[in-house]
Amino acid sequence: MTSPEIVNAAKLLKEGSLVVMPTETVYGLAANIYNDSAVRSIFELKGRPSNNPLIVHIHSFEQLQEVVREIPAMAITLAEEFWPGPLTLVLEKQDHISELITAGGATVAVRMPNHPIALALLKETGFPLAAPSANPSNYISPTSAENVRRGFGDRTPFLLDGGPCEKGLESTVVGFKADGVYIYRHGAITREALASVLKDVEVHSLTAETAAPASPGMLLKHYSPKSRLIHTPNIAAQLKEFEGSSVAVLSFNKEYSHPAIEAQLILSREGNMEEAARNLYSALHELDAKTPDIILAEVFPDTGLGIAINDRLRRAAEK
Ligand code: TXA
Ligand code: MG
Repeated sequence: MTSPEIVNAAKLLKEGSLVVMPTETVYGLAANIYNDSAVRSIFELKGRPSNNPLIVHIHSFEQLQEVVREIPAMAITLAEEFWPGPLTLVLEKQDHISELITAGGATVAVRMPNHPIALALLKETGFPLAAPSANPSNYISPTSAENVRRGFGDRTPFLLDGGPCEKGLESTVVGFKADGVYIYRHGAITREALASVLKDVEVHSLTAETAAPASPGMLLKHYSPKSRLIHTPNIAAQLKEFEGSSVAVLSFNKEYSHPAIEAQLILSREGNMEEAARNLYSALHELDAKTPDIILAEVFPDTGLGIAINDRLRRAAEK
């Protein structure tokens, strides 16, 4: 990445334009948090409901103080361990943080991304950036520049291309209560990793159904391809049912063989969950582009990153 591109992106952000930036999780659609009209244009471009709050991105612990009021000890422990990285902390906001960003709430979600381009851009602009995933609302998240362009077409803002995203799954979003840490959204940092750092602190997970009131963006239907998707533990049995249709198969590590299969992607032949997570969204984009009648996506083992992968596939399957 040449620095003139970063300088240009920072100039655009200062003028109130949007910029697409790579992060280690997915590509983000960034705006200056202090420019309400820029923040509004994020919601317009994505077609995002205004009750779904945005994540604020920062490059330093000093910037954290600028955004949030109080930081509980549990949050400091997590930030020290996982930042920069794919963990988002929901904390009490400073008064000057716009309610457009927090969807009217008193808390703000914040994270320090672990990507050299995102960090360089944040340093160059000097202000924090609000950035949701760079995709139309409810559509598959983008892990490459090509995925972003597939979603926004010629409405794609200035884009910094950082190649494929290393993690491929969004950040884990957590909130804090007196009785411990609450996972609002499962993501690239596993529940096990959080628990191992927090030791005596209780880690509670919210489900797809219970997360929505605490984290308004956790809509059940989300991350959806245009083709119908079925999330199934038994691909072989489903294949028999869809004889005569054009079927795309998304599997963890096995290869399936059946005349109905028109396309098939295996997320990790070695059965490596990190690799599967990294490939998940790009594989969904690729299969969806072939417009099959049906996408059969395999249910993953429900541990580690498999929990977040299953969460995304379950939401993708919602009608
Ligand atoms: O990895 C990521 O987190 C990516 C990259 C670009 O950083 N961003 C991302 O943003 O996934 P988005 O807008 O697609 O998802 C934001 C999530 C939503 O589920 C929303 O409900 C939750 O964060 N969220 C934001 N503010 C919140 C708040 N104040 N309280 C609870 N949940 C919040
Ligand atoms: Mg998103």
